[in-house]
Amino acid sequence: MTATLIPSQQLLVPQLEICGGKKLEGEVRVSGAKNSALVLMAASLLTENSLRLRNMPALSDIGGMADILAALGVQIERGSDWVELQANHLSHISPPYELVNSLRASFFCIGPLLARLGVARVPLPGGCKIGARPVVEHVKGLKALGAQVTIEHGVVSAVVPGRGHRLTGGRIHLDCPSVGATETLMMAAALADGETVIENAAQEPEVIDLAGLIIAMGGRVRGAGTPTITIVGMEKLHGANYMVIPDRIEAGTLLLAGAITRSSLRVTPVIPEHLGAVISKLEECGCQLNNDGIGITIKADRINAVDLRTQPFPGFPTDLQAPFMSLLATAEGSSVITEAIFENRLQHVGDLQRMGADIRTQGNTAFVEGVAQLSGAPVTGSDLRAAAAMVLAGLAADGTTSVQGLQHLDRGYDNLEGKLNAAGASIKRTYA
Ligand code: EPZ
Repeated sequence: MTATLIPSQQLLVPQLEICGGKKLEGEVRVSGAKNSALVLMAASLLTENSLRLRNMPALSDIGGMADILAALGVQIERGSDWVELQANHLSHISPPYELVNSLRASFFCIGPLLARLGVARVPLPGGCKIGARPVVEHVKGLKALGAQVTIEHGVVSAVVPGRGHRLTGGRIHLDCPSVGATETLMMAAALADGETVIENAAQEPEVIDLAGLIIAMGGRVRGAGTPTITIVGMEKLHGANYMVIPDRIEAGTLLLAGAITRSSLRVTPVIPEHLGAVISKLEECGCQLNNDGIGITIKADRINAVDLRTQPFPGFPTDLQAPFMSLLATAEGSSVITEAIFENRLQHVGDLQRMGADIRTQGNTAFVEGVAQLSGAPVTGSDLRAAAAMVLAGLAADGTTSVQGLQHLDRGYDNLEGKLNAAGASIKRTYA
């Protein structure tokens, strides 16, 4: 959500001022999934026809992806929760570096661009705060489908040799179940000549949502949501009108808001299977969770310490590691949290310690000793999920917490403070 800034505000840093200790109640709504919406937008490159995506979240990352696709020649129309994409006249094979650099997911465009045009040049997305984030598996997979790929001067250039410049189906075994590599290769294979099998594929719900869209566009995909995905390439794909799944990471964050404030809160819409590992961890903490088929109501009073380790889906999601740590910082007892997906995703520990949390780290493991009360302090979210963790800690803290790093938060949370305020929180967006 972008407010109109008066000149003095333009020089100031936006922050959230959270008055802690308030119980939450009622219902909070979950928006469409960021990590699905981004790749579904990239899939518009696979067809000349119009693609309409509904239940789109209002996030800065969606704007970023729209800019990247527009730079390739895609015509884009956006509404409050929908976007219409028309990629009939692609004018460029290479999105601008500065746009790709600020949005990693844009690298996934290399798959559909190469499949559609037989050539693509996409800047390497580079690392980010949470890890090196290589694209080795993406490139390896494109080569297995017949592309010649070179990486020079920070740009990945790919071309399909031969007449028609069409990729050829093949067998790809991923060394790690990378979400991005699986999605990039599914889109590449959707227009390839013949059958492609991706082994050790990612099983995340966003991968299943992408398969659903490719099928809605006339494609053939089997096994999404399992370790082996089979795609039969089509000559052409047509347009579609498709609904993005609810955001499981936002839903998990809102359930944690109910838990950390020891409240009773209904979060909707939620697909429980998308949050299996998170629901069972919350139950292990002593929370009651009632699934009514559309939403989940969480009730919490005491929170027990638990251990958790992040893993690829259906394991515990790395994107909820930081928000869950805020909860465990207020639990009764000692918890051990192991971040096993990204090599540098414990940076929120320092700011939680500023709020009085008792946490020690060793490598990618955090040892959390629950405290009776966190105290409000000025903190900064170093990345998207770290910023959400700060907001949750602020809801439980004694006094006022000011959270900076909102440029990260707004990338992945659609009006978080508005939703929490509607449930009884006291959060103001100010400029410091
Ligand atoms: C997606 O990133 C999500 N982003 C991330 O969400 C999420 O944390 C991640 O999947 C894991 O669930 C989007 O969907 C836009 P990966 P992605 O490739 O695809 C290693 C958020 O907060 N790897 O599955 O980039 C990699 O280094 C964001 O919303 C290789 O080694 O993640 C990492 O350790 C953050 N070689 C692990 O795999 C490769 O070629 C998982 O990365 C590719 C990845």
